[in-house]
Amino acid sequence: MNPLFHRASRKPVLALAALATGMVMTASAFAADWGKIVVDVDKPGARIHPLFYGLMTEEINHSYDGGLYGELIQNRIFRNTRGSRGPAAQLADGTPVEGVPHWHLVTSSGAAGAAVPDTADPVNTTALTTSLKLTISDVPAGGRVGVANTGYWGIPAKPDTTYQCSFYAKASDGFSGSLTVDIESSDGKTVHASATVPAITDKWQRYNVTLKTGQLTPSAGNRFVISAASKGTVHLNLVSLFPPVFKERIGAALGGRPTTGFRPDIMRLLDDMHPAFLRFPGGNYVEGSDFANRYDFKITIGPWEERPGHQSPWGYRSSDGMGLLEFLEWCEELKMEPVLAVYAGLNLDNGRDVKTGEALKPLIQDALDEIQYITGDVNTEWGARRARDGHPAPFKLTYVEIGNEDFLNRGAATYRGPEGRFAVFYNAIKAKYPDIQVIATVDPGEGVRPDVIDNHHYMPPAVAIRNAHLYDNADRNGPKIIEGEWASQETRGPGGGPRPLTPTFQCALSDAAFLTGLERNADIVIMSCYAPLFARVEPGGSQWRTNLIGYNGLVSYGSPPYYVQKMFYNARGDQVIPISSIVPQRIPAPATEPAPAAPAPGRRGGRGGGPPPNPNEPIFACASKEDASGDIILKVVNVFDVDQTVTVELVGAKDFKGATGQVMVGHPDDTNTVDEPFRTVPKDFVIHQASSSWIHTFPDHSITVIRFKTK
Ligand code: AHR
Repeated sequence: MNPLFHRASRKPVLALAALATGMVMTASAFAADWGKIVVDVDKPGARIHPLFYGLMTEEINHSYDGGLYGELIQNRIFRNTRGSRGPAAQLADGTPVEGVPHWHLVTSSGAAGAAVPDTADPVNTTALTTSLKLTISDVPAGGRVGVANTGYWGIPAKPDTTYQCSFYAKASDGFSGSLTVDIESSDGKTVHASATVPAITDKWQRYNVTLKTGQLTPSAGNRFVISAASKGTVHLNLVSLFPPVFKERIGAALGGRPTTGFRPDIMRLLDDMHPAFLRFPGGNYVEGSDFANRYDFKITIGPWEERPGHQSPWGYRSSDGMGLLEFLEWCEELKMEPVLAVYAGLNLDNGRDVKTGEALKPLIQDALDEIQYITGDVNTEWGARRARDGHPAPFKLTYVEIGNEDFLNRGAATYRGPEGRFAVFYNAIKAKYPDIQVIATVDPGEGVRPDVIDNHHYMPPAVAIRNAHLYDNADRNGPKIIEGEWASQETRGPGGGPRPLTPTFQCALSDAAFLTGLERNADIVIMSCYAPLFARVEPGGSQWRTNLIGYNGLVSYGSPPYYVQKMFYNARGDQVIPISSIVPQRIPAPATEPAPAAPAPGRRGGRGGGPPPNPNEPIFACASKEDASGDIILKVVNVFDVDQTVTVELVGAKDFKGATGQVMVGHPDDTNTVDEPFRTVPKDFVIHQASSSWIHTFPDHSITVIRFKTK
């Protein structure tokens, strides 16, 4: 139990009884002792931006490769020479192919052969420069020689499922046999699905087969094998295996991509949130560890044959199967608007190679080309390119961010001022696209005023709670704010070790308190998105602790903070309804009461903890009104371990037609995992006798969202 959220308490018996029976207490019943929340329904405030709640994403923690992007083969073009972090897969009947991580030579029944990377006679010289040369030197009857890919912590096999497989192959040294393609258990003893390519030629050619499983128990730790049973040499490249995806995209209209799409279970989790925008591709991923590995959209588009991939700053190679168009297709499938971050000359190298002056010009042109790729019609150069890549229709784009965290890596000096990196990108973008709203990653100072500033806050829970007031006194005349990366992060895990990969309910409470502050300040905060979004949970799968959604090869789950966001996102409202007063029910104070603390200053909120939340402020709340339904929405967070029974006064509200709500209650250490994905989730409830002055008990450690029906 985290003491920050715990108070020696005397629970109000009546309130608990009322909650247990579902009884609604009227204001007249016990008004004297309870707290009060006054919601000024008759004084509607600022409009809430339609893009208020969104997602932030980058290639970190195997977000795409081994995550959202459907591809199951790791290292499909053999250019990843370092492998992923974490223990390498071992195969009892296989030998790792030297220099080609995630691939193994497998043989059976005394067969002999070899597998090595080969750069002679490549498929092309842009991306498919290294092939895998498989030599079959001896195959007794019933034997085989092949190469096995262990995927991302195994190849998941599910029952009655069709997998799309494609690869390049060519034969030499007299090879004239067939190739067999299998999904099989990691020991090769059970074949889950199999297909045959009857013959291959001596010229590079792409082959497509489908693999279909029958009845089986889902399993994650399988392997994919291409093998031969006759002598000779086979070269392979661009080996791909796609399972069914959220929205099937297969065929000629894909501009040379044989198949593409996103993992359905993860997409469903996101879809359930109804996010309005996607901030991408970073994060540090847009900057890259060095110039060569920055996010260069031009190497991520087009047919797979033209995508070499690049090294992600998070320690593994990105295939760039998830390229710019795939990010946009992801937006399209979930009805999100892209919020694009463009590379702005700074890498994660402490400013060693920062680009300024003339050196920025081609990079500015790249940014303009990228915007045109997204928004241009088919008569523009890059709009035509997008059409050729399989998507003639342009995408809507309103917000473009220049760089990422330019206050780090000694980036601020070159970012700021009238000739700074921000200003030159801003001026070039506004000259060509005057309607685009340009986001700065830090105050660019004199000379140019950004439309929006991107603030990042990674905060211990206590700081997140205090930061519910972060924007209460902010300058109303300054640029608008996107909270482009934020999260509460435990300082340590429940057992005292490192904090978990996905957060506990403690963070759900503090996240929810923080979000009430963002919503209340929707006149200046126009967008918000948590980071990071995803974590691959197997050892070596993640580089960052505290991520919203976790998964292995088979199961994905939302952390308790995911459910907070789902609750808030689905009850955003269109206009702030001010809350003029929150008077908590009196609760006993601890022996030594910590002094109330001011909101943490600065953009990152401080990673070092800080004083606990103010015990005199156990409840946080915000309210809004939804145009279409007319619903009044009230969100209340009780961060302490004492129930709060309060009179809720909805001043100026007309009669209600009832109210419905969701409440999530838990112990601060509660969490969800791949084994228990739904341990901590919200529950629905109905209030039959809601009125403009009524009493409700907000349970200890709870997050509540109530919709009052006015129509
Ligand atoms: O979200 C993880 C990292 O935190 C992002 O890549 C970076 O922008 C921030 O420092």
